[in-house]
Amino acid sequence: MNEAEKRELYRDGFVVLRNIVSRDLTQRAKELIRQNPTTIVHGDDARINDLYNQSGLAETLEHAMGPHTRPINAQVAVTMPYSNDAVVRGTFKPGQIPPAQAHVDGGWAGPCPIKYSEIKAAGQSLHTWGSDGDPRSMGPAGGAPLWQDRERTLAIGSYTALAAVCLNDQRRPGKGQFAVRRGAHEAVEAYFRMQREQGGPVGGGGPGWPRLKLLGNDTAFAGIMPEAMVNSYPDNPCEMDGWPWPELTPVLMEEGDAVIALHSLPHTATPNLSDDPRMNVLFRIRRLRPDNPYEGDRRIGWGVSDHPDRTLGGEFLDYPDSYDPFRTSIDRLCDHWSEWDGMADIVTQMPGYAGQ
Ligand SMILES: [Fe+2]
Repeated sequence: MNEAEKRELYRDGFVVLRNIVSRDLTQRAKELIRQNPTTIVHGDDARINDLYNQSGLAETLEHAMGPHTRPINAQVAVTMPYSNDAVVRGTFKPGQIPPAQAHVDGGWAGPCPIKYSEIKAAGQSLHTWGSDGDPRSMGPAGGAPLWQDRERTLAIGSYTALAAVCLNDQRRPGKGQFAVRRGAHEAVEAYFRMQREQGGPVGGGGPGWPRLKLLGNDTAFAGIMPEAMVNSYPDNPCEMDGWPWPELTPVLMEEGDAVIALHSLPHTATPNLSDDPRMNVLFRIRRLRPDNPYEGDRRIGWGVSDHPDRTLGGEFLDYPDSYDPFRTSIDRLCDHWSEWDGMADIVTQMPGYAGQ
């Protein structure tokens, strides 16, 4: 990354690296994905993982961030055309613009398996639901764990950088682009700090962050960002023809480009209003933690997991007394630039740097 790209990453929380993955690599991956477009978590396959490991991405992040366990897994993120998909599901009305909302990765997300009326009858609240349950529970969609630790100090998993490789033409808005709340990474970090200062837990269920939100029909949902946090994001509207979500910025890329985004940058795939699938592969990269005995351990699902302090399947791991993975993750959530060795010059030069 050159100086200008680093400044962009610092300011916006993401940066696009043009033509960083060769056509050989993208074509090989696409061939495989076309055979099985519904796969989400891909598993160990060089045709996918080489998009990171054999392209310029590994070295670029090695310089900007630092040493890191290389991915052995990835998320193949294909977004099918919205109209077809939604007509099949019966949720689409012609002309209706579907909503799109950004999230921060690592939280338990999806519909709550218990109805709101049952939660209320049990004397529990939407804010803290799950706080006295089984800490081993995984999210209903097979997603992230309800808690990262048995002590329930941390509800959100994290990593350092998301690297999303673009496999087809996404230069026209409305193609299902990866989209972000541009510049909101610092507000998210500030929210985590506020939660830590108030005694935690950090993430959903903690101060200012209700675990569940009621969305009518007696159904509560997890994984929706708290209103107070969203209200603290900077106002960076994006007005573009064919782009109906101005609070989001679409990342316009073409085959072989990649975007690097901080974990703390709220993001989402957007509904694909074109008639061609959107095709990306996402890698989740965490800076090496030298005292962590599970760096490189295959059970973690390095590259795909958004909760690498537990196994990909959610089992708890034993850690030596000398290393507290959850405390470490909270410290990094509250000081995200501390994981970017190659950004130190930029970060300390910038106005507002508090020397955390
Ligand atoms: Fe995500």
